[in-house]
Amino acid sequence: MTSNAHLPFGDQRSAPFYGSDILSVKQFDQQSLDYTFGVAHEMREMVSRVGSFDLLKGKILANLFYEPSTRTSSSFLAAMERLGGSVIAINEVHYSSVSKGESLPDTIRSLECYADVVVLRHPEVGASAMAAEYATKPLINAGDGVGEHPTQALLDLFTIREELGGVDGLTVTMVGDLKYGRTVHSLARLLTNYDVSINYVSPDILRMPTEVTEEVAAKGVSQSEHDALDSVLGDTDVLYVTRVQKERFDDLDAYESVRGAYTVTPETMDKAKERMIVMHPLPRVGEIDPAVDTDARAAYFRQMEYGLYVRMALLAMVLGKA
Ligand code: NCD
Repeated sequence: MTSNAHLPFGDQRSAPFYGSDILSVKQFDQQSLDYTFGVAHEMREMVSRVGSFDLLKGKILANLFYEPSTRTSSSFLAAMERLGGSVIAINEVHYSSVSKGESLPDTIRSLECYADVVVLRHPEVGASAMAAEYATKPLINAGDGVGEHPTQALLDLFTIREELGGVDGLTVTMVGDLKYGRTVHSLARLLTNYDVSINYVSPDILRMPTEVTEEVAAKGVSQSEHDALDSVLGDTDVLYVTRVQKERFDDLDAYESVRGAYTVTPETMDKAKERMIVMHPLPRVGEIDPAVDTDARAAYFRQMEYGLYVRMALLAMVLGKA
């Protein structure tokens, strides 16, 4: 054990994920989750005490987004800057050499000449894993099409822990677009590290993929599918609402037929437990009535803030400073 082992931060290169890519929630187990959330909790305290500090001074993040993003891109940017590092932000790939036809491997190999860590969002499933094969620096998956969104699932779980005090014993109800929503694919998988029950509420054409339900079942977690939210609302501790992912539909008539399938309103909240939370990865496009925002159980804006701390923790971990 090194002399700085008792300090919250410092050079801790034997800690989980030092020098590693973060591509899937499947890389996390109970122990590494506890470690990550411990660091995220320290980050929360440090931000509230001092705002920014120089843990990653001199380090550079390349933030490469081939799909739209508000929260994920800006929270990684804010996370790096609050840790004293800096950011090469490429949010408009149209203005980069991607528009000249440059391949993803070449773009990644270029950026890592300048940066110490790369965050990548891309419309194709598996793009991050493929890019990571070419990268020699840590690469973090910020969403690969309908595949995974591991950092979102980590911040979702951190939100549940901070808001409800733990995860074991909870009933988590995911509602909306479970087919194309990558956040729920990652969250369902990550929840298998805990003793939980999962309800999936969706229209028939937007069910959770069997690839995910089979993985969850193999871990012994109880799951059930429903058409109506009412049938499970009263037992729900975490109501995780998602947007119908319009951009993933080939057939816009099919999108129109399901877009308004579920809306959380103050009346929904009247039927929910007194101690529960409503989450949403955002953006919302009608699934949660703004009249719900003032309900203390509406956790979706706090959830964004938790994301900052989790992303600070992940950056510090992959760079060996957590
Ligand atoms: C989500 C995403 O991009 O998958 N947004 C986010 O990262 N907070 C959810 C969505 O776009 O609906």
